[in-house]
Amino acid sequence: MNRSKRYLLLTAFGAALVGGLGVQAVAQDVPTIDPKPSVVVRPIESHIGNTVGHSESAKSDYKRYCAGCHGTYGDGNGENAVWIEPKPRDFTIATFKCRSTPTGTLPTDEDLYNTLVRGITNSNMPAWNTFTKQQRADLVAYIKIFSPRWDKEKPGQPIQIPAEPPVTMDSIAHGKALFTKLECWKCHGPHGEGDGPSAATLTDSKDQPIRPYNFALAKDDSRFKCGVTNRDIYRIFMTGVDGTPMPSFADVIQPNDAWDLVHFLRTLQVHRHGKETEVLSTAHGVIPPYVDKNPPPANPAPAENKAPGGGQE
Ligand code: HEC
Ligand code: HEC
Repeated sequence: MNRSKRYLLLTAFGAALVGGLGVQAVAQDVPTIDPKPSVVVRPIESHIGNTVGHSESAKSDYKRYCAGCHGTYGDGNGENAVWIEPKPRDFTIATFKCRSTPTGTLPTDEDLYNTLVRGITNSNMPAWNTFTKQQRADLVAYIKIFSPRWDKEKPGQPIQIPAEPPVTMDSIAHGKALFTKLECWKCHGPHGEGDGPSAATLTDSKDQPIRPYNFALAKDDSRFKCGVTNRDIYRIFMTGVDGTPMPSFADVIQPNDAWDLVHFLRTLQVHRHGKETEVLSTAHGVIPPYVDKNPPPANPAPAENKAPGGGQE
């Protein structure tokens, strides 16, 4: 090696050291023993009514109460995650199941807040109802530090839910027809027992097996992951459970028809007592076939040729 080449090599090495590359070269053989970088808590706010949450204020609560499952870095890889099914939510992708907002959009602060109050039934996510409102609002803000989506996007516009019409057999029968037509049964099963032909093959967006909700298992205090009321059920299938195969049906179900589907779904909760089961039991448990009173004018009927009342002379 001549002198100028050696000089070049030395300069290159020096430059590498200055540029920090020398450190990387060493790290190839020795495992990283540095502690992982600490989380940068960007100042983010949340708004729950008049309460303003601040991400910085939730630092110790998150570490103490949430990191064990959701991970220090919010990636869902806390030390307990290996033992848990379904897995804790990964906040870095900002996909949430319980939203009042359309599928694919970010939830509102209230949505996240309500999830903290409620917890998630049939999962390890507890209800945090001993916290103060301020603590929960701060945690909602903290959850947002993990994904850049919160800087770039606004939460979706909550869907409009019309007032609930009365529970009638007509409504239940129409709901049943929708359940069949929209193929809810393919996943949820013909009796809502979570055993449809597709049920065993379903996986969520993280390739974890996932079962459709079993309506028949629900007790009288029936709960869904995203709520307990008829409005909550309405919201579930009109916004979808994002990150799972449970789609949004907002594009195919008219707002008022959606209430009929809600009323029918309640009858699948056979251990629950409600208006829907009362209506059903007065009909001895039989849901008559649905007759569409206003069918679309597909075959214009030759009305003039028929005498009113059946045309019998
Ligand atoms: C014992 C484990 C555990 C702890 C502790 C825990 N979570 Fe969870 N969390 C979960 C699991 C599991 C899920 C996912 C449940 C599911 O997908 O059905 C979840 C989901 C969530 C979601 C997502 C809701 C949605 O709409 O998708 C939020 C937000 C959340 N947790 C916040 C928190 C906060 C804040 C804390 C601390 C105060 C916390 N969690 C503590 C297990 C935990
Ligand atoms: C491709 C399969 C699939 C189809 C089709 C489907 N679902 Fe689901 N549904 C699921 C899965 C999977 C879950 C469970 C999600 C979870 O546990 O996070 C679910 C959950 C639900 C829940 C409970 C959510 C909660 O908060 O606990 C309701 C209610 C529901 N579906 C209603 C319907 C209705 C109504 C239809 C038809 C209009 C339908 N589903 C069609 C797969 C499906």
